[in-house]
Amino acid sequence: MLTLGIETSCDETALALVRDGKLLHSVMSTQIDIHALFGGVVPELASREHYRLIGRLYDELLEKSGVTTADIDVVAVSRGPGLLGSLLVGLGFAKGLVAAGNARLVGINHLHAHLLAPGLEEDLIFPAAGLLVSGGHTHIYRIEGPDNFSLLGRTLDDAAGEAFDKVAKMLNMPYPGGRYIDRLGRMAEPESSLFTRPYLDNDNLDFSFSGLKTAVGLYIQKNPHLILASQDMASRLFDESMDVSGLAHLCASFNHTVSETLRIKVERAIGHMKARGEAPRSLIVAGGVAANSRVREAMDGVAKRFGIRLSLPSLFLCTDNGAMVAYAGELLAAKGMHHGLDLDAIPRGQK
Ligand code: KG4
Ligand code: ZN
Repeated sequence: MLTLGIETSCDETALALVRDGKLLHSVMSTQIDIHALFGGVVPELASREHYRLIGRLYDELLEKSGVTTADIDVVAVSRGPGLLGSLLVGLGFAKGLVAAGNARLVGINHLHAHLLAPGLEEDLIFPAAGLLVSGGHTHIYRIEGPDNFSLLGRTLDDAAGEAFDKVAKMLNMPYPGGRYIDRLGRMAEPESSLFTRPYLDNDNLDFSFSGLKTAVGLYIQKNPHLILASQDMASRLFDESMDVSGLAHLCASFNHTVSETLRIKVERAIGHMKARGEAPRSLIVAGGVAANSRVREAMDGVAKRFGIRLSLPSLFLCTDNGAMVAYAGELLAAKGMHHGLDLDAIPRGQK
């Protein structure tokens, strides 16, 4: 089965072809440079860029892969959550291909696709506990199979990635700043009590990161020398000549607090499942923040503690990509699922 995946939910225009569980080729164009000028994604510009690029990227993908539109069996497309205008560009393109050829159309939940992505690299083991940590979402799931996700907990305010990006913004780092905070944090030992781990004094599986963001903001106010004089300095942060010890200390401590918070809630979720006699056999962690080195270490510890398999995608599969959409489409199509040309975007609220 040859499946095309189309991803346009946010600021990456990404297409990929997957055949029988294996990634053939992928193409992607990121709009980060455009949105960085505004400190965050500008929806109108995002949909314009997707529209400008998608046809060109599709041609490039076919050329790379040596296939034609007629060879494609399934067209899988992210239908949400995401930015409405951006999603509609992907959906419109997908429908055009389906109307013109013989392929089946499958609408994909972008969040589920993130969590299924490690299946491109290893067999997924169900039932699984799933942690999705991205720029827009922080969700804990119980996953019975590719088409069976139950949401157990979510953030009540900022997503984990959003917290990273907002802290980075306060430090005058370019958007999206999560990767700078990660890299700087590896250059120092965390002070574990510098920031209180947020929203743990309860028995639920939800998150709240806005208080932590405020605490870091206050710390930065008291230590204004940590703020970069210009965004250009971010690229020089890792030069030997720059003294980044204060920043590294802050970033290590922030990384630590976020990863510890995620660890505790995921352990709690697995504990709840076990108590119900429904112990998961694996832990799947995905989304942009799953690229974070401390989060990866913390989740490795959780899986070892419970004696279950950890499925963590390679870095290129953590952030938005077309391969995860194609792969999710292949799994759902194999289960007989498909949509008609009336398939709609679900910009918000898809669990
Ligand atoms: O999954 P993703 O590519 O897009 C969404 O669907 O949201 O996630 C993007 C998020 C951004 O907030 C970015 O700062 C964060 O993932 N991110 C990281 C790292 N790499 C990307 N956060 C912390 N550490 C990283 N290494
Ligand atoms: Zn995403």
